[in-house]
Amino acid sequence: MAPVDPHSYTDGAHPVTKHAALSFYLDFTVSTIHASALLTLSEPHSGDLLLDTRAVSVHSATTAADPPEPIPFSLAASPDPVLGSALTLTLPPDTTSFRLTFSTSPDASALQWLAPPQTASAQPFVFSQCQSIHARSVFPCHDTPAARITFSLLLNVPSQLSAVAAARHVGRRDPLPSDHCGACDEALWCAPGRVVEEFEMEQPVPPYLFAFAAGGIGSRDLGPRTRVYAEGGDKVLDEAAREFAGVEDMVKVGEDLFGPYEWERFDLLVLPPSFPYGGMENPRMVFLTPTVIKGDASGAQVVAHELAHSWTGNLITNKTNEDFWLNEGFTTYAERRIVEVVQGEERAALNMGIGWRGLNQMMERFKDNMEFTKLKPKMAGIDPDDVYSEVPYEKGFQFLWRIERQIGRPAFDEFIKKYIATFKFQSIDTETFLEFLKANVPGIENQIDLHLWVEGTGIPPDAMEPDSAIYKKICSLAAEFKSGKLPSEDEVADWNGQEWELYLENLPTDVEASQVTALDERYKLSESRDYEVKVAFLQLAIPAGCKCYFNEVEKCLKQVGRMKYLRPLYSSLAKCSGEEKMLAQRIFSEAQEFYHPIARGVAESILSKHS
Ligand code: BES
Ligand code: ZN
Repeated sequence: MAPVDPHSYTDGAHPVTKHAALSFYLDFTVSTIHASALLTLSEPHSGDLLLDTRAVSVHSATTAADPPEPIPFSLAASPDPVLGSALTLTLPPDTTSFRLTFSTSPDASALQWLAPPQTASAQPFVFSQCQSIHARSVFPCHDTPAARITFSLLLNVPSQLSAVAAARHVGRRDPLPSDHCGACDEALWCAPGRVVEEFEMEQPVPPYLFAFAAGGIGSRDLGPRTRVYAEGGDKVLDEAAREFAGVEDMVKVGEDLFGPYEWERFDLLVLPPSFPYGGMENPRMVFLTPTVIKGDASGAQVVAHELAHSWTGNLITNKTNEDFWLNEGFTTYAERRIVEVVQGEERAALNMGIGWRGLNQMMERFKDNMEFTKLKPKMAGIDPDDVYSEVPYEKGFQFLWRIERQIGRPAFDEFIKKYIATFKFQSIDTETFLEFLKANVPGIENQIDLHLWVEGTGIPPDAMEPDSAIYKKICSLAAEFKSGKLPSEDEVADWNGQEWELYLENLPTDVEASQVTALDERYKLSESRDYEVKVAFLQLAIPAGCKCYFNEVEKCLKQVGRMKYLRPLYSSLAKCSGEEKMLAQRIFSEAQEFYHPIARGVAESILSKHS
């Protein structure tokens, strides 16, 4: 056994899946997918083959021959808490393709099933979130980013719903008896009132980029290769179309900076508020939280980030989660380059400032576990969701910015373009990046301590705090708060959400309750429509002991399931004694049904850590 990835049972001595032909029957009444998967290996194989699964019931394994022969299989009896259960198949000699039939669990960690009362369209809704290691809860696979697959996907859904996927949409049609491939009974597959939405992904992607959603979804065209999808009808779609009007231009900016956009379309899906992330870079169709729609085009930063992944992450993919910074650090750098072009240098500098603050806060969070302040941490036995942080984003950004400062922007731009062209459609590790860097920037290892950056803990001394006028002004206003000074109306006149976010996050943590409420009385931050601002404010107010905001905290935790907000709010409440802790427990018990399983797990682990 030669594992290739600490988060997968994939055996490095075996071939991996290169294509999956998937037929999914979505049963909304029991929150279950009944499925068939025809998997094709990169080369013929005999004997044991290991696949990753989590909470999947496997019904049959057969050869692809006609008639099919059964293949012996066994599913590990007790799941590993991080990895799930290995599925071991014993393949007959020279097998390249085999078929599995299986059903997902209603608790599948990637899937959230929403009942009609929980949605804006009053229709059922389901969506997937597979990063980092949740694809295995949707279908048995080699769930490591080291392996890339192409796939075809048939989604059989009730005909009043439509389905989308991170793949090319082939069409919508009546189900055919030849489609079901054993996913469920033919009578069920072809029942009146069902349709099939067909998709094809011809570009090889890591399994964590597999994604789909189904529900009362409508759409609006934005540009020749961009469209926004959302549930909730015309009003939501109009707002979304306004917010994302500039997306086509952004794709062009990305192409100028990083080379051709290789995924044909760049569509956006706005999810229900329980979506656990700000955005997810599913290829051809980015998934977004509805909280990015604020009516002031500020969603652009999140879109720039997910778009940037089209090059860094989706074209070049981290080989394992230990190399996650290659995805997120590069993307944070690329995002800020796009933002600089479309929104200006000052906005980019503000984003860097917010990131710098976040990176410094992570040093505090991980002070007893400095491994996770490394760019390349050891992850064996660790659930990536438990240690998700700004470190790979912001330390990764800092590392690349440091290289840019060393060699100058024109040379660095050329380096990035060459890096992308060299490794596109490959999964690489940090060592491969470093070799490429040293080969293309001779002598760089004598100018930058690469080893310290990659293997060291903490923030290297040659990292740099951004140096822009607006950033410094906001930091100095925040420093004056301690001595009782609130920013004046004039000073904040042209602030939008990000300026407030930076200000609030730079305030000292041990402030008086009276000062916090004075700030709120003047600027109404606790009621901000911008969740970044609202949460930054509440995170200040909770430890200061301002009980008057319990109501806002509760509303926030019950309305939005984005983990960026759940984590700090539940943590601040749980760290307090008495009333706040009980409030956190009560809110969680009432809100957990509304959360995506990943978010529910994270909130649960925060509460149990502080219980
Ligand atoms: N790929 C991430 C989201 C992710 C990371 C999902 C790890 C699962 C595991 C995505 O690109 C991301 O970074 N989203 C950010 C956007 C922000 C940095 C603009 C988010 O959700 O906050
Ligand atoms: Zn990202």
